[in-house]
Amino acid sequence: MFRADLLSNKRVLITGGGTGLGKAMAQRFLELGATVHICGRREDVLEQTAAELSPQGPIHALPCDVRNLDAVEAMIDSIWSEAPLDILVNNAAGNFIARTEELSPRAFESVIGIVLLGTLHVTMACGRRWLKAKHKGTVLSISATYAPVGSAYVVPSAVSKAGVEALTRSLAVEWGNRGIRMNAIAPGPIPTRGAFSRVLPLPQLEPLALDRNPLHRFGTTEELANLAAFLVSDGSGYINGEVIRMDGGEFLQGAGEFSNLGRILTDEDWESLKPRKKKS
Ligand code: HXC
Ligand code: NAP
Repeated sequence: MFRADLLSNKRVLITGGGTGLGKAMAQRFLELGATVHICGRREDVLEQTAAELSPQGPIHALPCDVRNLDAVEAMIDSIWSEAPLDILVNNAAGNFIARTEELSPRAFESVIGIVLLGTLHVTMACGRRWLKAKHKGTVLSISATYAPVGSAYVVPSAVSKAGVEALTRSLAVEWGNRGIRMNAIAPGPIPTRGAFSRVLPLPQLEPLALDRNPLHRFGTTEELANLAAFLVSDGSGYINGEVIRMDGGEFLQGAGEFSNLGRILTDEDWESLKPRKKKS
């Protein structure tokens, strides 16, 4: 889909890059010539991913909890001591389904800490360094389709992702004239162990999710990684402040008043609705 040197000479940090979508992006960016850093809390997971992907190109594992500002600053310092990053992907997240009234304060703090504060910590750490050095940079954040409208049962995630989208649009304007682009992807469901074990943890939930989707399938990690590669590449240099939804049309299916008719009405029903020919 892309030239093999699309991301050559680009240095990338992917938060949560040891698993799932982050790992898929790491793989794709390496294939396209980038130098990739991945961070996450679990050192063994990061090391395993780095070992698996290292035949594709230079990849560095950096254990870091993005909730901890000091740890983030130390990680970014250690990256910058080699050379500045060019691309940041805010992908780390925490989420689970629960009835909101039953959530403890720590449950809110945990998810908001990872998704909203973690994204702020890493974005500010990179942004300040880019601005100071007049170095161009691009930030891609992984949101969710429910960010603009909210969603029942994932409220800490919904409020956090809404904040991430507001950050994306705000800084796109504030930092755009100084060479920093800010964009986001809002994916629909894409099977990863981390996500599906927490947001579709019961067998009856998967068919429900498929049924909501006009394409009747889930997205793939490859589709997500290709869109991400495009958005972080210089080829998309005029895209700034956008949230690109990638969900097979699921969001629009839910929004259209009559979109569900196709599931209920039969061919005979449609025939019966056609106007009767007038007798001449
Ligand atoms: C209610 C829960 C809970 C649950 C945890 N908590 N899970 N409450 N229901 N299912 C509560 C705990 O009881 C605790 O509160 C507090 O949350 C923190 O839990 P810990 O386990 O101590 O936190 P921590 O180890 O920091 O783990 C964070 C986590 C965990 C978010 C809870 O799930 C995690 O590590 N997630 C990382 C990966 C992830 O979530 N990936 C999915 C992303 S999918 P108390 O008061 O008891 O101490 C996504 C979008 C999907 O974002 C969209 C699909 C379409
Ligand atoms: P995942 O595999 O669970 O990825 C989450 C990653 O974040 C893990 O690698 C995890 O590693 C890391 N992480 C969690 N807390 C962290 C912290 N405090 N500091 C640093 N890293 C942390 O799930 P995924 O499906 O790939 O999700 C990736 C992104 O896509 C998330 O932003 C998610 O919201 C978004 N998304 C996913 C879907 C989907 O269907 N898969 C749909 C919409 C949006 P550690 O546990 O080792 O820290």
